[in-house]
Amino acid sequence: MNNMLMRLKKNKILRNMCVNTTFLKDQLIQPIFVSENIESKKEIPGIPNNFVMNLEESIQQIELDLKNNQKNFLLFMIPKKKEDNDFNFNFQKNVISTIKNRFKSDILLWADVCLCSMTTHGHCCLFDNKKNIDLNKSLSALSNIALNYSEAGIDGIAPSDMMDGRTASIRKILDNNEYNLMPIMSYSTKFASNFYGPFRYAADSTPSFGDRKQYQLDYRNKSEAIRASVRCFKEGADFLMVKPGQGSIDLIEPIKIKTGLMVGAYQVSGEYAGIALAAEKNLLDFNNALLESWHVMKRAGAQFIISYGARKSKELGISE
Ligand code: PBG
Repeated sequence: MNNMLMRLKKNKILRNMCVNTTFLKDQLIQPIFVSENIESKKEIPGIPNNFVMNLEESIQQIELDLKNNQKNFLLFMIPKKKEDNDFNFNFQKNVISTIKNRFKSDILLWADVCLCSMTTHGHCCLFDNKKNIDLNKSLSALSNIALNYSEAGIDGIAPSDMMDGRTASIRKILDNNEYNLMPIMSYSTKFASNFYGPFRYAADSTPSFGDRKQYQLDYRNKSEAIRASVRCFKEGADFLMVKPGQGSIDLIEPIKIKTGLMVGAYQVSGEYAGIALAAEKNLLDFNNALLESWHVMKRAGAQFIISYGARKSKELGISE
């Protein structure tokens, strides 16, 4: 018989010979949450082994992660005082400079840049008096965040707000302030998704009114989803990203073809929690299912993966 698939499955060596999605550890990014609000760390419901921490605890966590060779991090910061106008970033700047002074170039530290953890209303933008999105004000606030984080020593900027023009606006302010080598990893195709539930609890960023459908993408639409990433490419993004990752695997290849940029996938909190909860009920094996979910995103063309399980990658057999 020709074209037999079983012929190449005889043993593990032969099966390994056929593998064509592989990982480097540094292509897995671990989110970390640092809050000004808490006395001691709290595990995030649904995302085992992930915590909202104070600054000191986050340093200990990174030390532990480094022992497991996890070096690439995405930082979320939750300040105590919510503001709609006069942001000062004191807390965030202290977090970034403390972590970077401690670990220097042993780690790569990205910062999520958004307004939703900072504002009284929990939206990713600012509003005018009539409660309409004030795009100019939002863009200048977001660019200002990016500049402040850069001054504090961040390694890369990851804007997640989905405002049109934010990548261009951030690129401009960075270039004008001698940060022309600061990379931007744009959350470029980000849906208004139901799968962000556990995250919003951790980041204290649930909108107090309405939803995010005025700026995040409609999951029923494909062409718009591709256009959103093309937009960020044209505005100067260095990396693009789809989110939720598992729920966007059909978009990775078309975006790569259209832009020529590398495209990552963010396995979001609800996707991760789905695996964790099924495992908790003994319905599947957590590590094996997680590894499979990562390979699915890789197979779909993901260059890098942001996952709450990144720190487990050594345990899952991903070496360097
Ligand atoms: C902030 C932001 C969100 C996530 C990453 N950055 C939530 C949102 O847009 O509501 C979601 C991450 C996750 O669910 O794991 N804008």
